[in-house]
Amino acid sequence: MKVKIHTLFQYLLETTDAAPEAIVGFSLSGAPVLGDYLADLDPELSLDWNNRGFRDLPELRDHVLAQAGLTDLCQREDVLITAGAAEANYLSIMQLLQPGDEIVIETPGWPQAEVLARAVGARIKRVTRRESEGWRLPLDQVADAVTSRTRMIFISNPNNPTGDLLGQDELEELVQIAAAADAWLLVDEVYAGLEWDAPRSPSIAGMYRRGITTGSVSKALGLQGLRTGWLICQDADLVMDAVILRENSSEIMNIMGEMIAEIALRPERYGSAMEKARREGAANLAEMNEWVAAQDGLTWHPPRAGLIGLGRLPHGIDSDAFARRLLADPYRTFLLPGSAYDQPGHIRLGVGGGASVNLAKGLGRVSQALADWQF
Ligand SMILES: Cc1ncc(COP(=O)(O)O)c(C=O)c1O
Repeated sequence: MKVKIHTLFQYLLETTDAAPEAIVGFSLSGAPVLGDYLADLDPELSLDWNNRGFRDLPELRDHVLAQAGLTDLCQREDVLITAGAAEANYLSIMQLLQPGDEIVIETPGWPQAEVLARAVGARIKRVTRRESEGWRLPLDQVADAVTSRTRMIFISNPNNPTGDLLGQDELEELVQIAAAADAWLLVDEVYAGLEWDAPRSPSIAGMYRRGITTGSVSKALGLQGLRTGWLICQDADLVMDAVILRENSSEIMNIMGEMIAEIALRPERYGSAMEKARREGAANLAEMNEWVAAQDGLTWHPPRAGLIGLGRLPHGIDSDAFARRLLADPYRTFLLPGSAYDQPGHIRLGVGGGASVNLAKGLGRVSQALADWQF
């Protein structure tokens, strides 16, 4: 088994040193600073392991259940704290998929499941979200893709990169589809909490015994660098399998990540942090909508949730070439090309970064690059 590079990561690797002057691609809220937590951190905290369990701090696991609306539906034991939602996805996929198993994934979608499934030797079945249908997930096609060999359905809700959102009814339908094949249903909920025109969707771990919720403090709270996320599942064997795989990779959580995440998710802090993230995200989104409307030939379906969406480039512009030119002089502006998601005619537009992001600067440069491209 060898894990191969995906075009999305390839692009990030190739552009890391570009030192852009503006970014129009932030997928997370403005990041807090360490000083915001110092008053609540104990200077005598031992930097050894937490000594409280391999699933990590019990009170952090309680907060995780609370923010997901799962306090009455799941137990502390159903939660494993991980190095981000990425590790939670990794542990689940690697412990569940065997060579020859089928996995149903969405496209466009977060590429991690496809990359890992390919490495395992699983069979990948793609379901296409169509722009003409507002990037909705076609549930009839998910049902058609599922067979008796389907081991897992993997989606992100809200979806990366389109910002589409499945509500309760659609999730219930998805559960029925998965249950009919006794398949695992992994819903990556890393963008949950920033829904713009709907309530937060229910977490899948509370809806289905084989439902796996993954999430983290990375996106709405902007705490990506803590590398702290979670896996929630009512199936005790799956959680234990994840603990076992983690014991053989990173072994335990990093103590600072779990301690700061526990503080950040305390109800008195979490509520106001989310309120700020919503306010700033909504303001940036309004600015982005206004800007898109003013561009010739550029369109998008604004995200229904989360901080990213796909913009369709004017006809004939290749996203990879455009993103690379935009990153060079005189524009020096970063965004992700849609080619990272098999969408070569699109760009990923992000409204994260909070109040200090200065979206106008980057958007002005994108306008200029678009204008220059056409002449
Ligand atoms: C859908 C999705 N899942 C997982 C991740 C990784 O998040 P984390 O920082 O929690 O590992 C990302 C990051 O962009 C993402 O978009």
